[in-house]
Amino acid sequence: MELITTVSAMQSISRKSGAAGKSIGFVPTMGFLHEGHLSLIKLARRRADVVVVSIFVNPRQFGPNEDLDRYPRDFERDKALCEVCGADFLFFPPVEEMYVSDASVFVDESELSAGLCGSSRDGHFRGVLTVVAKLFNMVDPQVAVFGQKDAQQAAVIKRMVRDLNFPIEIIVAPIVREADGLAMSSRNTFLKPEERQQALWLNKSLLLAESMVKNGENGGGAVESAMRKLLAENAPGVDLEYIAVVDSTSLKPQDTIVAGTLIALAARVGNTRLIDNIVVEM
Ligand code: PAJ
Repeated sequence: MELITTVSAMQSISRKSGAAGKSIGFVPTMGFLHEGHLSLIKLARRRADVVVVSIFVNPRQFGPNEDLDRYPRDFERDKALCEVCGADFLFFPPVEEMYVSDASVFVDESELSAGLCGSSRDGHFRGVLTVVAKLFNMVDPQVAVFGQKDAQQAAVIKRMVRDLNFPIEIIVAPIVREADGLAMSSRNTFLKPEERQQALWLNKSLLLAESMVKNGENGGGAVESAMRKLLAENAPGVDLEYIAVVDSTSLKPQDTIVAGTLIALAARVGNTRLIDNIVVEM
């Protein structure tokens, strides 16, 4: 595996791969890798000739009161994990390489980014889309792999790729969970043991939603109320931000749950903001 830190080196590798007829599979990350990230790298490995992983903690997608300064980092460990999973190139640009100080062009999505996490994270998806568009131009992949964990992010990126004609196939990989059901996240490292126990109720509330739907309940409101009740009764340490019952592509609210409906939530547990979701199967 080769470490790349400049945009020009990355672009020259992409050009060479293209000229040699090799497809590129790309996995963008912010590092502090866990099994969720690794599942994306392994999937890219199966789908492309050359696998590029990027690690870039993108300051532009963090709000002023968010956790940029304490975002966890462990580059040496990440590097070893990328290598084990079969990455060919690890792209690790410094901030100065990624951004010019007087940049004035950004990517904004105006429909899907407004609700859910967008309501409380002003400018977050603009930051995500702008960096992902830049990374796409640097890596020039044919395939890019994202996680269902960030369901809204995946939907917004698919919309960008559609609306701006990026010639890239977007693959969305399933959520990888800890043995106890907690969705893996780099931010789980912030959870104190008792907070972690409380956080488990997030997944439990989604499992309740799933079992209600399996038993014939298709009312979005009824399912949401039951989830809220479960959390209120069992998890006083969970400060719920939202529960959304929406179409998984348009992210528009759905009164009636159908196959493919996304049930997504965000909550604060202590100082840590967590998200999780399920897509309903019927
Ligand atoms: P990051 O949070 O590091 O996540 C990188 C990728 O890993 C995302 O596509 C995310 O959805 C996926 N992922 C995270 N946890 C997962 C889990 N438990 N199971 C499966 N996939 C999981 O998302 C970002 O970084 C950034 O916003 C980025 C796209 C890199 C742009 O800066």
